[in-house]
Amino acid sequence: MDSIKFVPVELLLNEEGVIAGDVATSSSTLLLPSGLPISALRETHPGVVELLKTHGITKVPVKKSPFITMEEFRGLLDRVRPPLSLLNPLVTRVAAHQMEAVYKNIRSRQVREKGIRSLALLGEALCRHIRKKPQITLSLGEEEGWRESPFIHGVNTSLLAGYIAAGFSPPWPEFVEAMTIAGLLHDIGKSFLTPFSRPSAKEKRQRAEDDRGMRTHPILGEAMLRDAGINKPYILSAVRSHHESWDGSGYPDGLAGEAIPMGGRVLAVANFFENLLSSTASPDKKRSDQAVSSLLASANGRFDKLVVRVLLASVGLFPPGSVVELSDERVGVVLESRDRDLMRPNILLITGKESRKDEPPTVIDLKKSGPLFIRKVYDDYGKMKVVPLDKDERPSVLFRKYRAPRSMDSR
Ligand SMILES: [Fe+2]
Ligand SMILES: [Fe+2]
Repeated sequence: MDSIKFVPVELLLNEEGVIAGDVATSSSTLLLPSGLPISALRETHPGVVELLKTHGITKVPVKKSPFITMEEFRGLLDRVRPPLSLLNPLVTRVAAHQMEAVYKNIRSRQVREKGIRSLALLGEALCRHIRKKPQITLSLGEEEGWRESPFIHGVNTSLLAGYIAAGFSPPWPEFVEAMTIAGLLHDIGKSFLTPFSRPSAKEKRQRAEDDRGMRTHPILGEAMLRDAGINKPYILSAVRSHHESWDGSGYPDGLAGEAIPMGGRVLAVANFFENLLSSTASPDKKRSDQAVSSLLASANGRFDKLVVRVLLASVGLFPPGSVVELSDERVGVVLESRDRDLMRPNILLITGKESRKDEPPTVIDLKKSGPLFIRKVYDDYGKMKVVPLDKDERPSVLFRKYRAPRSMDSR
């Protein structure tokens, strides 16, 4: 089903698909590797056309992407029966904007404390969604633009941390709620330290380890939560210890192994996994399955292996949202990994007659499909775009829902 065509260099960035063969100069310097998605090229190397022309390259082999558009995909999701339980995109939008409002007004004590309490309540609401078990990656919000980034990161980390905690056995509802809230607020200490902007990937790397100021954000975050009246120990300890490392090399306290509070261990994994999945325009960005491999590679020494195992058990090796090609060449989106079978999830087909609008979409259970297996993984679908709210809506979103936190004071 893969059709390769040779696209004139000038039109390359208008195409959808992947580079179908290595493109090199006459002296064999690789310019474009086979398999590179053109969408990634558009974002990271807009000057590539000039570069190719300089080397006398006039046409580039492109494999047309077999995927459907996001709208068509949403249409398919809507028609799946029994209906899928997806996170209401409005919840993600509201969470992101509440987060933005707190970050922007962080120097005002009153706004900050009210804002943090309202975010904690939102965390409780996200936790109720997690209990309904929506499809995990399909629920993660994707940033609309760079300004949204720090906020969506909090929302996604919150969902992932909640999912991990929900995978603990025996069930520990109080901890699930604490993790969802802590995930949302884990980097709140950064609001004092960084300007309201997103550093480039390069700047990020340069600042990374030696930035002493940044290393205080977990302690600062914990103090800010306390000031706002949040005193639940699981939340506070998780925020403080989310950059601790299993081998003791983390910060701020240099704790090691089981001395790291469980919440910190969960948040560390959720934070790491979310960063891999969501940092767009970053060379570190991974597809879901690649993020899983990176997580496994980093698990030794850095994370609590048990926590990593719990995450993998819920996302599988092909996390929901991964676009995969089956051994019979049909393409689909992973919906869920049932019964802890990491290799054989349920797949919603998006190609072939199954994707026609007048027929219900087909969901294949790979466990019941004989020799059929996943042959290839493409990029992810289903990450919901966050549409900015109208300007006038923002203040009301932040405070209308505010009420004194009930459950926090009592614990
Ligand atoms: Fe952090
Ligand atoms: Fe973070």
